[in-house]
Amino acid sequence: MSKVRIAILISGRGSNMAALIEAARRPDYPAEVAIVISNRPQAAGLEHARSAGIETAVVDHKAYASRDSFDTAVDALLAAKGVALVCLAGFMRILSAPFVARWQGRMLNIHPSLLPSFKGLEPQRQALDAGVTISGCTVHLVTEEMDAGPIIAQAAVPVLPGDDPAALEARILTAEHKLYPFAVGLLATGAARLVDGQVLRSGHKSENSRLFVPPLTSDGVSTRG
Ligand code: GRF
Repeated sequence: MSKVRIAILISGRGSNMAALIEAARRPDYPAEVAIVISNRPQAAGLEHARSAGIETAVVDHKAYASRDSFDTAVDALLAAKGVALVCLAGFMRILSAPFVARWQGRMLNIHPSLLPSFKGLEPQRQALDAGVTISGCTVHLVTEEMDAGPIIAQAAVPVLPGDDPAALEARILTAEHKLYPFAVGLLATGAARLVDGQVLRSGHKSENSRLFVPPLTSDGVSTRG
């Protein structure tokens, strides 16, 4: 099986990166990690990637005079490594319009809320302030507008009584680590593809295969899950 070559762009901890690296170890996974790129030399994820035997590169944004010149340097690396999909994973830089346009339909991001709710910073705190009982995470294609591109996949996570932002963040992060490899797999196999500005997904059409959290079984509301 020929695998789709992905790059993972990080700025920090890199736990989603680690989940993608782990998934890509499986022989039947449709993608392989060609390179991990960080804009911060101190990003903790870099060490993890190196110890997993993945090639890493630092493109320190402070060394570049403009956003465009930084993006051009990243793009050159992606081209050199034959990358087909770019996965943003806690990458804390806004990418320029030409870069986003060049990677249209081929660049993904993960955000810890059920978009389009709670875009931007501190989405877990936003969810708690709004009083929602379900939040979650979203993998979407990147467009110029932040946290707004076509949605590839979402996972729902309950908000529990007494949650603070840290508790909710941890619960959502566990879901992120499953969702991101799943979503990359969908795109890499063509099971998800961009058609007229929306992601068209094949398979998983039945109601039963959709995700309900918490399961609607224990309180007599429904016996279907
Ligand atoms: C994750 O919550 C991701 O959804 C958001 O930034 C965080 C990155 O965490 N975009 P990590 O670096 O993957 O651990």
